[in-house]
Amino acid sequence: MRDQAEKLREMALNLKQEIEAEISRDLRHSRVVVISSGKGGVGKSTLALNLSIKLCTRGMKVILMDADMGLANLDVMLGLVAKYNIYHMVQEKKTLADITISGPEGLKIIPGGSGISELANLKENELKRILVELRKLDGAYDYMIIDTGAGISKSVMAFLLAADDIIVITTPEPTAITDAYSTIKNVAKNAFKGNIFLVVNRVANDSEGILVAEKFKLVCQKFLSCEIKILGHIENEPLIGEGIRRQKAFVQIYPRSTASRNINAIIDRMIEVSGMNVPDLKAKSGGIRKFIEKMAGLIK
Ligand SMILES: Nc1ncnc2c1ncn2[C@@H]1O[C@H](COP(=O)(O)OP(=O)(O)OP(=O)(O)O)[C@@H](O)[C@H]1O
Ligand SMILES: [Mg+2]
Repeated sequence: MRDQAEKLREMALNLKQEIEAEISRDLRHSRVVVISSGKGGVGKSTLALNLSIKLCTRGMKVILMDADMGLANLDVMLGLVAKYNIYHMVQEKKTLADITISGPEGLKIIPGGSGISELANLKENELKRILVELRKLDGAYDYMIIDTGAGISKSVMAFLLAADDIIVITTPEPTAITDAYSTIKNVAKNAFKGNIFLVVNRVANDSEGILVAEKFKLVCQKFLSCEIKILGHIENEPLIGEGIRRQKAFVQIYPRSTASRNINAIIDRMIEVSGMNVPDLKAKSGGIRKFIEKMAGLIK
């Protein structure tokens, strides 16, 4: 009799553990954030890298993907030597684990595949290979940050439309602003449901950052009926160039600079708006699986 009761208790315990594991798996959906700009050279990779490292120092698990298929360079920015990249994953059947490299603060980086022109141009089995490997990541990371190339090619659009959050970055220059506007127009036209965030880079001071962002927000409201959310701005900081020359992220070597404080403020706002600090909302991130399914549908 006692044996039977023991068995029942054990079964109940196993069931409880299984349910708890299932729930915590659900709660660990990764948030997929895609960084894009329109115009080239406005600071996408700088933001992607420094944002990712700062998220790591706050205890988040982050994987950063270099999706600039033409001019991949995130690994070089950190002075890391990537033996393999996405190209090898596609062409030589390397796994995601084979190509992923470790950066500072526990950051993981998927090096971009120079040599792959466009995701949209990949053969179906090649694209499938990338998507199957990426699916394995869901739940292992809080954030997957994706650094795209400039412009709005078909593959950049697919990345954007499949994301949970899009960060559009611009400088105060009119050409950069016009290109950022075109990117948002394309996203809005496709009924994107996630957050569209704005970061203004290389501003002279806080006032310029706030003014440019507020004006841009109003224009998007008026002409696109699109609600963008301002994340903040980053001051023009010559030390950023110095960091790249020394192959270090500036948030690490100059943590007290205004630009580093700007990045911190951007993260505060991003976490607050997307609800990543609230477990119930965190669970509502689409996760990498959703992202992959959407991408596959958009590209083909
Ligand atoms: N806030 C800043 N202050 C000063 N220099 C900056 C700032 N942000 C970026 N830069 C510099 O601008 C240049 C371009 O930056 P970055 O490579 O991040 O741009 P990108 O948008 O990724 O370019 P691409 O379109 O070629 O991928 C780099 O030399 C970088 O050092
Ligand atoms: Mg770049």
